[in-house]
Amino acid sequence: MTGSFGHLWDLCKRVFAFGKRITLKGHCRFWIIQSFNGIIAVASLVSFLFFVACAYWYFVPTFQPVSHSYDDHAIPNPNASIGECNVFQGSWIQDDGYPLYNASLCPFVERGFDCLANGRRDRGYTKWRWKPRDCDIPRFNARQALEKLRGKRIVFVGDSLSRTQWQSLICLLMTGVEDKRSVYEISGNKITKRIRFLGVRFSSFDLRIDFYRSVFLVQPGPVPRHSPKRVKTALRLEKLDDMSNEWIDSDVLVFNSGHWWTPSKLFDLGWYFMAGGSVKLGMPITAAFKRALETWASWVETSVNPNRTSVFFRTFESSHWNGRPRLYCKVTQRPSSKPGGRDRSPFSDIITKVVKEAAIPVTVMHVTPMGAFRSDAHVGTWSDNPAVPDCSHWCLPGVPDTWNEILLWYLLSRD
Ligand SMILES: *[C@@H]1O[C@H](CO)[C@@H](O)[C@H](O)[C@H]1NC(C)=O
Ligand SMILES: *[C@@H]1O[C@H](CO)[C@@H](O)[C@H](O)[C@H]1NC(C)=O
Ligand SMILES: *[C@@H]1O[C@H](CO)[C@@H](O)[C@H](O)[C@H]1NC(C)=O
Repeated sequence: MTGSFGHLWDLCKRVFAFGKRITLKGHCRFWIIQSFNGIIAVASLVSFLFFVACAYWYFVPTFQPVSHSYDDHAIPNPNASIGECNVFQGSWIQDDGYPLYNASLCPFVERGFDCLANGRRDRGYTKWRWKPRDCDIPRFNARQALEKLRGKRIVFVGDSLSRTQWQSLICLLMTGVEDKRSVYEISGNKITKRIRFLGVRFSSFDLRIDFYRSVFLVQPGPVPRHSPKRVKTALRLEKLDDMSNEWIDSDVLVFNSGHWWTPSKLFDLGWYFMAGGSVKLGMPITAAFKRALETWASWVETSVNPNRTSVFFRTFESSHWNGRPRLYCKVTQRPSSKPGGRDRSPFSDIITKVVKEAAIPVTVMHVTPMGAFRSDAHVGTWSDNPAVPDCSHWCLPGVPDTWNEILLWYLLSRD
């Protein structure tokens, strides 16, 4: 090695000299083979570089963490705050510390989402942790979260995916409560799909966690006179859901919408859009979605007190339907290694755009990319109705827990 370095140094001097010679005299193109020493120098340099390259290829793979990762970027600062890190860009890593709760011991997981209770045998899908590329999500601590949320009211608004996140948050927090009976639905209601309002109280912490079912966020209403017969309901894009006044008095508001904005859930059932006082028969769904979100954004601006209420909007939650024209649902045992185009959604793009343009203090929780990998985490046939496979909803525990870990990180780092 000392020999190599000696020759290298020699070579450097010659190259330097060569540079001077070229500028001064402009000849000596074959200077390097002018002497035997030159050949030795080149050979040493080549073997030195070859050795370095071999050492690199040999050692570097063994330094990588033993984990399953879809992203091979370096991880700079695990302590980065949530404001300094894009938490929605990252990968899923196997972690035996998961799941964070047992759904059978949590009375607020509805039967349809408790895949293990419904006969799912493989458990690997419950053992993945989301790892943002540039930071680490703080480890969930139920007791700390409960103390921080003491006296607060958290409200989830949206479709069944919102209901799943609501259930997940309650179950996560319940792991920190000794007397489980101190946590109850305030009207004694059972958790069912169609119910419009559910409120759970953690009495020892004076904490309320509520759910409002509002799948479009805007208000459906009667059809104006002289409308075509096929119009059965007019969705008023310029009027927010009439329950919205019940959402205002809160400390945290978490919205979602998207899964109901499909032809089969709208036009096929006679639901059409209404704006500017008339029914818009030909209005594309994405345009209607945007109009509805603008209505929501101006409501946030005029009705919500940003000094008290933190507002979040979750982007589209990836589903994993395959095949056309007949859709089928195949739940895998492991996450997919590629997002397969499911990391983007026109709904997510519209949400991001509207929030940005309205310049309202809303945090967009861009969960679309992380869900795209989780072809293993859907309810599939392990729901309350195995006859209808489901590649839209997620098993609990599962992906919605990650949405809540991120939500809690936001809330706990605010004052
Ligand atoms: C990260 O945080 C821990 C605990 O607060 C602290 O001890 C450590 O020094 C921090 N590391 C860096 C790189 O800031
Ligand atoms: C959940 O708890 C029940 C009852 O204690 C137990 O039988 C079951 O094995 C637990 N499930 C998991 C996934 O740990
Ligand atoms: C929020 O706080 C700021 C600064 O303290 C204050 O100027 C503003 O009026 C408050 N807004 C509301 C809606 O209370």
